Amino acid sequence: MNKELRQAIIAGNWKMNKTRPEAKALIEELKPIAANATCGVIICVPFTNLETAVELTKGTNIKVGAENVHFKESGAYTGEISAAMLTEIGVEYVIIGHSERRQYFGETDETVNLRTKAALAAGLKPIVCVGEVLEEREAGITEEVISRQVKLDLAGVSAEDIKKTVIAYEPVWAIGTGKTATAEQAQEVCAFIRATLAKLYDQATADAVTIQYGGSMNPKNAAELLAQTDVDGGLIGGASLKAADFGVLLEEASK
Ligand code: 13P
Repeated sequence: MNKELRQAIIAGNWKMNKTRPEAKALIEELKPIAANATCGVIICVPFTNLETAVELTKGTNIKVGAENVHFKESGAYTGEISAAMLTEIGVEYVIIGHSERRQYFGETDETVNLRTKAALAAGLKPIVCVGEVLEEREAGITEEVISRQVKLDLAGVSAEDIKKTVIAYEPVWAIGTGKTATAEQAQEVCAFIRATLAKLYDQATADAVTIQYGGSMNPKNAAELLAQTDVDGGLIGGASLKAADFGVLLEEASK
């Protein structure tokens, strides 16, 4: 990461894990561990844990995010949660377009774009996920895929708003597989995302955007990944569920 231009952010993505008592225990364990971090610290938790997380992290350096948001303001959308419902609780961030939502829940670049704009309009900071699947990497079209996702997912987002947006590069083949992109692969794609943003906006704007790497980031590989110029932190799945592991990542990102 380039500390002169950006602050590193480590965000946990709890996915569909933790009941409320379990969430409470993990957050209490995390609070003293996170207290010394100089990087940004976010925990993205299931909807049912949001209120608990906001309450328990008040007055700490831990910020709270949701894992999805609907793009309509209100109405007959059974089972959905609006951006205003999240901000009213005190949620600041929201993950949008995670590959699991693209894979299992019909998320498309079009709906990612609608959600991103709705989140920003409501004052939420989106963490927009992009990433290629294994076949795409093997076919040598990673940049083509990432370029398309970045352009479509962020279409119509202003330069001012893009600076509030976090982009997470998550190669789908590295998620939950224990298989990490090499530091070089992570740097290559994160730099490519920044170059794409520079074309869409301008270099100064692109330089201000936090671009995370996600996909089996853990205490063992974090230092090398975070040492890359364009890797500004991580979006963490498995390792965010263990306070000690998450703490190591915060420490590495704070160096
Ligand atoms: P893992 O860290 O478990 O591979 O998950 C990454 C991820 O999907 C974060 O959003």
